[in-house]
Amino acid sequence: MLDKIKSISDSVKKIISEADGSGVLNDMRVKYLGKNGEITALLKNLKNCSPEEKPFIGKHINILREQVEKLLAEREKTLAEIELNKKIESEKIDVTLSLNYPKKGGLHPLTLARNELVDAFVGMGFEVKEGPEIELDFYNFQQLNIPKDHPSRDAQDTFYINDNILLRTQTSAVQARTMESEKPPIRIVCPGKVYRLDDDATHSPMFQQIEGLVVDKNINLCDLKGTLDEFARKFFGEDTKTRFRPSYFPFTEPSVELDVSCFMCHGKGCRLCKGTGWIEVLGAGVVNPVVLKNCGIDPEIYSGFAFGIGIERCAMLKYGIPDMRILFENDIRFLSQYK
Ligand code: PHE
Repeated sequence: MLDKIKSISDSVKKIISEADGSGVLNDMRVKYLGKNGEITALLKNLKNCSPEEKPFIGKHINILREQVEKLLAEREKTLAEIELNKKIESEKIDVTLSLNYPKKGGLHPLTLARNELVDAFVGMGFEVKEGPEIELDFYNFQQLNIPKDHPSRDAQDTFYINDNILLRTQTSAVQARTMESEKPPIRIVCPGKVYRLDDDATHSPMFQQIEGLVVDKNINLCDLKGTLDEFARKFFGEDTKTRFRPSYFPFTEPSVELDVSCFMCHGKGCRLCKGTGWIEVLGAGVVNPVVLKNCGIDPEIYSGFAFGIGIERCAMLKYGIPDMRILFENDIRFLSQYK
């Protein structure tokens, strides 16, 4: 009996310390302490011992049982700890790890420029209008005093869809539409795309304009100048100076072009203003009475002014962009500079 006790005692330590799961430990418990377990069997056999041996052997069996129970409990605790540590390790969050947030987008420089241009006029009480890009010859040309044989209607400059329908070449078409459908006082700006057969570093077959139109009693060239002065200061900077140069458009009389003092060299002359100190920004003029009449407004009572601003040109000037085409390429390295 004592040999048996000793052999169980010798092996049990190793076996239990190698148990690698609570299932294995349960099997051990059954193997040694269960109803038919080895230690239980020893206790059952005690009755075969002589009365002198019994207390001594009984004591050793009990010591063995306690030893096995202790080993099982200890191993159980160790396994639980290992399990917990594994769990903690696997669920660990590294709060110092920088997360890969999706990159934030931004507005396109042309949208930024358009918003700023429109805001400058909305701040002066202008209302925003829109018109169709596929336009009738009637509104794009005829109503604006550009007759059929006018050079600017040359098929080389205009995308015609048929004899009467074209891609509008100027937002001025919205002038004609507005004057036809609304009574003065009119004070609108109309941002939108226009199309011309042009393609180089400073021209694109599609570009955007903002048309401005004011029609009311006693509107004259001074009102135009005051409005555009205010616009130039808002968009190009407080100390911007302006000047009018005579020009020609069939739908305005007199017609002017507006120059602003170069905001890069402040008039001294540089690369941007080609040494002149001035930058050409838009065409404008007093609405030709013929146009008012065409659109059903009495030129004896009302007068007006109009202007057309190129959005790409303004964006290029303001943001120092040398080639218009880059505005349409959607190169993220370029666009992300303007967020
Ligand atoms: N429509 C003209 C252009 O595209 C600009 C302009 C608008 C001129 C209004 C005068 C008045 O060049």
